[in-house]
Amino acid sequence: RTHTTTAAMKHVFRGTFIHSTQQTPVEILEDALLGVNADGKVAFIAKPEELNKLSETFGFTPAEVTHLAQHEFFMPGMVDTHIHAPQYSYAGTALDMPLLQWLNTYTFPAESRFKSLDIANEVYTQVVKRTLRNGTTTACYFATIHTDASLLLAQITNDFGQRALVGKVCMDKNSSLKHYKETMQESQEETCRFISELLNKKYPLVKPVVTPRYALSCTGALLGQLGAIAKNNHLHIQSHISENLDEVKLVKELFPECTSYTDVYHKHNLLTDKTVMAHGCHLTDEELDLFRETGASLSHCPNSNISLCSGLLNVRNVLNHKVKLGLGTDIAGGYSASILDAVRKTLDVSKVLTILEPENDVLTFEEVFRLATLGGSQALSIDDHTGNFVVGKDFDALRVNAAAPGGPIDIIDCEGPKVLLEKFLNLGDDRNILEVFVAGRRVVPFTYQVV
Ligand code: GUN
Ligand code: FE
Repeated sequence: RTHTTTAAMKHVFRGTFIHSTQQTPVEILEDALLGVNADGKVAFIAKPEELNKLSETFGFTPAEVTHLAQHEFFMPGMVDTHIHAPQYSYAGTALDMPLLQWLNTYTFPAESRFKSLDIANEVYTQVVKRTLRNGTTTACYFATIHTDASLLLAQITNDFGQRALVGKVCMDKNSSLKHYKETMQESQEETCRFISELLNKKYPLVKPVVTPRYALSCTGALLGQLGAIAKNNHLHIQSHISENLDEVKLVKELFPECTSYTDVYHKHNLLTDKTVMAHGCHLTDEELDLFRETGASLSHCPNSNISLCSGLLNVRNVLNHKVKLGLGTDIAGGYSASILDAVRKTLDVSKVLTILEPENDVLTFEEVFRLATLGGSQALSIDDHTGNFVVGKDFDALRVNAAAPGGPIDIIDCEGPKVLLEKFLNLGDDRNILEVFVAGRRVVPFTYQVV
């Protein structure tokens, strides 16, 4: 070969890779070679015997290969399919009320402060850094009703290199604060401004998402406008559904012409194959069928569902209905900004449901690993380019050391990779996450500095 080869491969790694496929919840590739090209995409996954051939074809030298140490492995980055960035300001507090009182007492006052770009800058920088460190390579964010602060959140995710969907929240009724809601026209116009300004920035990893807060915060007219905006521009949609029984009852009273809570969104063109709805604890089987038929997905937020005493989502039943499902932290209804916490609480809730009804078969840690990675990407309809290690997909990955010195896990030397994964999922934290990559760029440890 005659051309210089240094820029041909961004990274070549040799070691254990653990990921999910549609067929297998945990697939382990031991002693594999994985190359990431200059575009941040997986260029090859191969056996070490092919090193010489690969180095010639892809233009790298064996000395450029990074070898993983003992107890290290790569896994796909985790996906947080539902998180409220402004609510990070009070995460870990205010968990003493059910949903509707909690919103009026804590949430709307806290979110109303994000009219200030200084507050937004401070909190949004914290939440993006914290979630990245915790291994969230993709986050689907709610911001607030403030367009400029929502654009700032998008900029911060772009600067730190997190893949993100960002929504300016829409709400034109039922707020406890008269200055924390919009008119229908403002909400519609500001949504259009948010989308066009965000698309104009051409951030490679950040997309806008149409975000009606939920059926109780929006008039039917606003829901219809937002459905039309999403449809005309082929945009993602996010909202909340069937989280709490008082909420479900009020939605039925307010929309008597609709047959169910799900039907409210369906009638306003808000259930599409790019829709993700948070919670869904109290959905009926008929409503789950409508999710499957439309291709809409659910975000399971078990920490929040428990912390606000909202309900217990039966994930097994959702999966049996072939509805796409990912995991969400739902900061600050959920107090933890880690998808590892969502993994554990998903397993706990599944076991509680089995205690209550033994015929319910429990989820396995392998299945929940898939929900945290590939399942989240599928729920956000981005699995064509992320979610697992497939040639041509973006390299979104965590370099994990299950036995990180000073970390929370003790390992016996001879343990195999599946045990390392299981221990990391149940016991690990950010001390075990040595590096985080998004689209091939190393984003943790942080290199970006806020000036
Ligand atoms: N429903 C409407 N808004 C919210 C919110 O901010 N958090 C949660 N958990 N549920 C909601
Ligand atoms: Fe939420």
